[in-house]
Amino acid sequence: MSTFKAVRVSQDAGKASSALVDATLDEIDAGEVVIAARYSSINYKDALAVTGRGRIMTRFPCIAGIDVAGVVEASSDARFRPGDEVFVQGFGLGVSHDGGFSERVRVPADWVIPVPPGMSLLDAGTIGVAGFTAALAIHLLEHNGLTPDSGKVLVNGATGGCGSIGIDMLARRGYHVVAFTGKAESRGYLKDLGAAEVWLRSDVELGRKPLEKSQFAGALDSVGGEQLSWLTRSMQENGVIGAFGNAGGADLATSVFPFILRGVRLIGVNSNAPMAVRQQVWARIASDLKPRNLARVGFPIAIGQVIEHCELSIAGRVQGRAIVHYD
Ligand SMILES: NC(=O)c1ccc[n+]([C@@H]2O[C@H](COP(=O)([O-])OP(=O)(O)OC[C@H]3O[C@@H](n4cnc5c(N)ncnc54)[C@H](OP(=O)(O)O)[C@@H]3O)[C@@H](O)[C@H]2O)c1
Repeated sequence: MSTFKAVRVSQDAGKASSALVDATLDEIDAGEVVIAARYSSINYKDALAVTGRGRIMTRFPCIAGIDVAGVVEASSDARFRPGDEVFVQGFGLGVSHDGGFSERVRVPADWVIPVPPGMSLLDAGTIGVAGFTAALAIHLLEHNGLTPDSGKVLVNGATGGCGSIGIDMLARRGYHVVAFTGKAESRGYLKDLGAAEVWLRSDVELGRKPLEKSQFAGALDSVGGEQLSWLTRSMQENGVIGAFGNAGGADLATSVFPFILRGVRLIGVNSNAPMAVRQQVWARIASDLKPRNLARVGFPIAIGQVIEHCELSIAGRVQGRAIVHYD
């Protein structure tokens, strides 16, 4: 049986380690659809899994990678045929089911989404879980009343995957975006994505008051911790925050005052959404939220570079998204 390359995470005496391995279809998890991978992206969650810094995987060994875009090679489910361009994100992929950092991926048909008409496989792969999460967050904020006329929208963790694509989508929708970043060297990149203002984290005093200066109508937060706390205290009346990340910390210390005196809403965003929601959000990603700058955000890497790029991601040193290109 022919072999293919994959990044497999194993655990020994409680310690996770990753390796580039030769795998066979016999070894990987079952499902109705076999996909020849074309692109998969490095998400922060992948970096935690591959480096063993976070408890992401629920079983070992397991191939990492929480998303993949590719072409159906075989399907025993009538909804998919060889040659179809498809995308898979989340469910158990790369967590409890062999994942996307693999030249061949096999999954249940219920996890598979056809790439929307008019979208290339490379675009779907570059958007990945990060772009989907940013889109879901914007979708939820808009359902809570946010419009481009409401005021400024801050994007925290601006140069990351969720942040970069979130800025691109918000700018396209006509929002005034404030990119909040730790990387002074990325000003030009963030402006090119559509940020109206770039604020450096080191220049901002987070303060300790129950309510800080009222500044933002909306926010997307990849970071959590003290910065999310500051955001809750810095929203204008009826401001809405989409919280999905913990790149800077998992704690949240605030008080009830932003919520009871300003009507601030803190909205949790979980990308592992029901299929109906995924389809609705992907339809928006292909239309009114369609990113215009994916070529600036994604950069290609080979499967053999996944492990080193996961280390860079954990250190917060990546601008944009590393996309594994398979031949
Ligand atoms: N809830 C969900 O379903 C869901 C889905 C996707 C992602 N997430 C979470 O959202 C966050 C962002 O994901 P991503 O894939 O966009 O990650 P990423 O590409 O690695 O970006 C993370 C960004 O966060 C910023 N950051 C701020 N403080 C940091 C710190 N102490 N260490 C590392 N980075 C720091 C950095 O940008 P700047 O230097 O520009 O600030 C960094 O580039 C992660 O916490 C991830 O787990 C959650």
